[in-house]
Amino acid sequence: MTAQSRAANDISSPNDLEAWWLPFTANRSFKQRPRMVARAKDMYYYTPDGREVIDGSAGLWCCNAGHNRDEIIAAIQAQAAELDYSPAFQFGHAKGFAAASRIAQLAPGDLNHVFFCNSGSEAVDTALKVALAYWNAKGQGSKTRLIGRERGYHGVGFGGISVGGIVKNRQFFGTLLAGVDHLPHTYNRAEQAFSRGEPEWGAHLADDLERIVALHDASTIAAVIVEPMAGSTGVLPPPKGYLKRLREICDKYGILLIFDEVISGFGRLGTAFAAERYGVIPDMITFAKGVNSGTVPMGGVIVREGIYDTFMKGPEHMIELFHGYTYSGHPLACAAALATLDVYRDEKLFERAKTLEPVWADAIHSLKGLPNVLDIRTIGLVGAIDLASRPDAVGARAFEAMDRAFNEYGLMMRITGDTIALSPPLIITETQIGEIVDKLTKVIKAVA
Ligand SMILES: Cc1ncc(COP(=O)(O)O)c(C=O)c1O
Repeated sequence: MTAQSRAANDISSPNDLEAWWLPFTANRSFKQRPRMVARAKDMYYYTPDGREVIDGSAGLWCCNAGHNRDEIIAAIQAQAAELDYSPAFQFGHAKGFAAASRIAQLAPGDLNHVFFCNSGSEAVDTALKVALAYWNAKGQGSKTRLIGRERGYHGVGFGGISVGGIVKNRQFFGTLLAGVDHLPHTYNRAEQAFSRGEPEWGAHLADDLERIVALHDASTIAAVIVEPMAGSTGVLPPPKGYLKRLREICDKYGILLIFDEVISGFGRLGTAFAAERYGVIPDMITFAKGVNSGTVPMGGVIVREGIYDTFMKGPEHMIELFHGYTYSGHPLACAAALATLDVYRDEKLFERAKTLEPVWADAIHSLKGLPNVLDIRTIGLVGAIDLASRPDAVGARAFEAMDRAFNEYGLMMRITGDTIALSPPLIITETQIGEIVDKLTKVIKAVA
């Protein structure tokens, strides 16, 4: 550790932790018992006092290539020295175009144009705006209604929380966008408990879109947005045939289908995008996180040819889509994406996730029977373990598990309510899968 990084990691007084209001965090509890990270390499984080912590969550579902990869570091450093920033409004730079082409090549079908932003939330709001503007450009401006799904997470923008299905957003932030409706979520423990991959039960839940169309009429509906696999609300893999059914109903009524692949993109489910795994081509794919393995903020939307072409009309000096961010296609993010996509390709990491899926599933499902384990779900390199809630304290058991996993057992993981979610970097070895499961076994017993 350099003198500089030592200084940066020094917490000399409790006040040092006060200024940063941490996002999605129990701040008071954190500040009493911090979970501090100082550096990382490959599958591991290291605490300021040098303890090794295995990364069971790829940071926040994003570091798919593992941490501090030499090739990615070199690309970011070289880019910072060559072109630190360049505006993307009316100007361009080579790595932006190269990154867009590489990302489009990974997407199925004619999903071949990429609009860059800086996060998953921005990607979702961008996709929703493109959907509205698309129907307007086609002279069907009455198509404004947006359909999301219960237990959907689409980030924190007003568009994303409106189509998302998270009750706390409604409690805290009010009624949000008007003209939004929701499909039912796809989880049913009685029918699906301890499923591996896509559960057999539940494809019929897509038919609820027919009910929504009957209620509002297709002439008012712009788009449906779903995560192919709902990640943040507890890992809910799609029932077999569900996504195909959604696509069919959207086609029947002329409704755009958006897959939010902020988590499922870039190999998490064993293919570049979940759209490929499920053989379903949406009209737009939102991405972020894994695009550059979490190294520099980046997100984006991949759109089908026909959507892009619809906008490319009118006087040529006119802006076709009145939307963008100062940091859209930031040079550092693009350089990091290109280097990351090389790592994915050269190390065949998406295929690796696919090959490891059964090993991972066996390992995580071996936790069945431990105290308080109510359900386990696995898909790709993702796993979730539902723990029984403590009486009158929903979330307390998993919170203690997350805290003790980090501070006492050397494991980083995500929690949502009383669900533990796992999504390790795709470079994980079978031995490291074993390490995660050993640690998790001890943690689950410790919080019994
Ligand atoms: C499916 C999905 N969409 C959007 C987002 C929001 O991404 P961000 O936190 O980068 O804004 C997330 C974040 O976890 C996500 O899982």
